[in-house]
Parts: sequence; C-alpha cells; structure tokens
Amino acid sequence: LRLQIRWSPGMRLLAKIVVVYCTLVSLVVLSMLYYYQAIDFNSNLQYSMAISTELRERALQSGHDTWDRSLESLARLWNESLAGLPRIEIKIRSRWRWPFSSTSHPVMTRIEQHFNMTRIYAMQKISRNYFNPIRHVIDYRDLEAFKRDCNIKSFTMKNSTGENRKTCDVVRTPITHYRTCAVVGSGGILLNSSCGAEIDAHDFVIRSNLPPTVPFSKDVGRKTNFTAVNHARLIAVRRALKARNPAIRAAMLARLSSSPGMVFGYSLSLPDSKKNSRYLHSVYMITKEHNVPVIPAFSHQSYMSSKGLWSKMGGRRWTLPSTGLNVFGLASTFCDRISMYGYFPFPDVDGRPIPYHYYDGVKKPHSAHKMKGEFDMFQKLHRQGLLRHVVDKCDPTL
Ligand SMILES: *[C@@H]1O[C@H](CO)[C@@H](O)[C@H](O)[C@H]1NC(C)=O
Ligand SMILES: *[C@@H]1O[C@H](CO)[C@@H](O)[C@H](O)[C@H]1NC(C)=O
Ligand SMILES: *[C@@H]1O[C@H](CO)[C@@H](O)[C@H](O)[C@H]1NC(C)=O
Ligand SMILES: *[C@@H]1O[C@H](CO)[C@@H](O)[C@H](O)[C@H]1NC(C)=O
Ligand SMILES: *[C@@H]1O[C@H](CO)[C@@H](O)[C@H](O)[C@H]1NC(C)=O
Repeated sequence: LRLQIRWSPGMRLLAKIVVVYCTLVSLVVLSMLYYYQAIDFNSNLQYSMAISTELRERALQSGHDTWDRSLESLARLWNESLAGLPRIEIKIRSRWRWPFSSTSHPVMTRIEQHFNMTRIYAMQKISRNYFNPIRHVIDYRDLEAFKRDCNIKSFTMKNSTGENRKTCDVVRTPITHYRTCAVVGSGGILLNSSCGAEIDAHDFVIRSNLPPTVPFSKDVGRKTNFTAVNHARLIAVRRALKARNPAIRAAMLARLSSSPGMVFGYSLSLPDSKKNSRYLHSVYMITKEHNVPVIPAFSHQSYMSSKGLWSKMGGRRWTLPSTGLNVFGLASTFCDRISMYGYFPFPDVDGRPIPYHYYDGVKKPHSAHKMKGEFDMFQKLHRQGLLRHVVDKCDPTL
C-alpha cells in the first residue's frame, strides 16, 4: 500500500513560500544571535518588551560603538518577522557566547523575583532625562577631542549650527547596559554581613570614592566595575599616587588595580576646569605608566545638576545629595536590576552600635547630607520593586 500525497499547484506554491519564509526568518534570527547574543528567552512575558524598542533604547544608551544604521535595519527586519509571536528579551554584548546558556548566577535567579520590570522601565525613562553615561562617564582619552570639537555648554558639535545641531559624537563611554548591578555604599552595616559573594554575583558592581575592598571582601565583595569619586577623593588619590613614601604609592596603585578594567570616574563636571583636569590627568598618566588596568573617565556634566530627579523618585530636592545617591541615579539609566548594599545611616541596629563606614573610624555623617531622607526614599523604592535595598545579612554559605 503506498501513500501518495497529491499536491495541487496552489498547495505547492504555498509550501514553497512557507519554506522560503522559514529559511529567511531563521537566517535573520541566526545572524541576530550571532551579532547581538540573544540570551534569556524570557519566559515571563509580562516582563519582556518589544524587541525593536528595547534594542534601540539600549543601543542609544550604550554609546556609539554598538549603534549604527545596519543595526536599525536589522531591528526592523527582526521586528517584522516576529510580529504576533511571543516577545523575547535581547541583550547586547560585544562578545559572542552560546545564546541558550544561562549567564545568571543561581543567587541572581532568586534575587530577580524582587523586581517589577514594568515600573523599572518607566523609571528609566525619567532618570534618563537627568543622567546619561554618554555625558557623565566619558573615556579620559577623549578629553582633547572633546575640547576641540564639542561645544562644552550644549554637548553639541562645534561646527553644527541651528537646526542641524548634532550631539557630540567624538567621545565614548566605557559603560554599556547591564542586567544586574550592585551599588555598594560604605556603611558600617556591611561589617559581618557576609554579602561579598552576593555582591560579586552581579554583572556590574558600582562603588563610590574608591573604598578598600580586599581586607573586607567577605562582607563587601572584591569586584568593582565602576567607582565614582568626588573632588576631595580625586585630590587624595592623586596625592597618594605622588607620595614620597613608596608604600603609600604602592597601596594606591594596588587599590586601583584590584578589579581589572575598573572605570574610575569623576563625579563633577571637568572640561572647563583646568585644575581638576590636571588632577585627573596625573591619575591617568601615572596609572598608564604603571600599566594599571583602570579606565579614568571624566564627566561633562556634574552629577549635582540632576537634583530634580530625587523629588520625582519620591524623595526631596536635597541641597547636597550624597555621591552614593547620585551614583544610584546614574546606574538607574544603564542597569535593569539594582541592589543597594551598605546604605544605612543609623548609629546602631537593635542596640548594637555600627560604625559609619566599614573601613575607617569615622563616627558621624557629613552634616550637609540628608542621609535619613535618602534612606527613606530607598526603602520606598524597595517596596515598589524598583530596587533592592539590602540592610540584612546575606547567606554566608554562598
Ligand atoms: C515594531 O513593531 C511594532 C508593532 O508591532 C511597531 O509599533 C514598531 O514601530 C516597530 N518598530 C520598528 C523599528 O519597526
Ligand atoms: C508592577 O507594577 C505595575 C505598575 O505599577 C503593576 O500594575 C503591577 O501589578 C506590578 N506587578 C507586580 C508583580 O507587582
Ligand atoms: C564637523 O565635525 C565632524 C567631526 O569632527 C566632521 O566629521 C565633519 O566633517 C565636520 N563638518 C563640517 C561641515 O566641517
Ligand atoms: C563583627 O564580628 C566580630 C567578631 O564576631 C565582632 O568583634 C564585631 O564587633 C562585629 N562587628 C559588627 C559591626 O557587628
Ligand atoms: C567587572 O569586573 C570584573 C573584575 O573585577 C570582571 O571580571 C568583569 O568582567 C567586569 N564586568 C563587566 C560587565 O565589565
């Protein structure tokens, strides 16, 4: 008995169209996977976004290196071929990796449950009006080109005028977009917390003012991918690098090398300030001379000029937001899931006294910072699933 299927010419044409269509779609999908590493196929559709919008937003945020016209046309093709299908989340990475392997640490899978991505994407829209790594964290090596070609006030090209004003594109930022970030403050609450492993499990770890990590790594982690320093700290770092005492110089070089590839950013605006330029320049020259794997970065706009964001986030328009708060604001533009550690301004917990910093004997906070108000705002954002504000101890068995 032979089974014979008789195809009508119409059916044959349809089959051909289906085959061609499927091949084209797979080609597009494969090339996208190859170039842009689509990792987690997000099973939780509630949290996923339309790919074109996502891809474009991320590409725009992640600087000029990853964004060009061909990306735009690929995104459009991809969009069309996916119409009506479940949406997936795409992550842009410059390196190729097998797309179906999970990148997340098991701890992160649990932590991720905390976040409400709908609200986070809405918050990113707001904070991007105030912070932007393209303006706030610029590779120091681009400083000369920046001064030569850019209008320092407007961040547009000097030679562009009127309607054709073009955003400065001679500078790069070493920051891209990250799935999980830990923003680590210096609060004494971190002592004996065992949070080090959990902090290091994040894709990107951010600290302020280059605190020591090595002797405290069990509690604060080892990894630093970005540290933002204020004026006083920049001067202190430079002074240590130029100290007569070789032990002081070596200690500072060691701290700057403790996390290879770390971005060392200045949190206040730099380009038209000759003096600060000189400080950052010496940090750049000295670290280069010693082959320290650090990326000094300057800021076109002071973090302090973003005060309006805090009232929008449910806090106040503080006169002097802390560096930690500013770093959180900046991170909220390029990190999807932020966990905050070491932000706890109180002198004791359950009657147990805790130092102000985990690493030095400082007792009292800077009187100008409104740490209690900042704390309350973090708590509120935590309850809304916009960030994780960690004040408890972590699981020491990690
Ligand atoms: C992708 O498709 C959606 C609707 O399906 C549309 O709103 C959006 O503009 C499209 N994006 C691009 C880049 O074509
Ligand atoms: C996330 O936030 C949105 C918008 O505020 C809300 O409608 C939704 O219920 C929240 N989801 C969860 C799981 O809490
Ligand atoms: C403006 O500057 C850019 C970058 O420096 C350069 O590529 C472009 O040719 C310049 N345009 C004019 C009209 O000079
Ligand atoms: C941390 O633990 C050590 C030893 O158990 C103890 O001496 C110290 O007081 C603790 N520090 C804090 C801040 O709890
Ligand atoms: C963060 O820093 C660590 C080294 O401390 C490095 O291994 C890791 O690749 C960095 N992550 C990113 C996203 O740059």
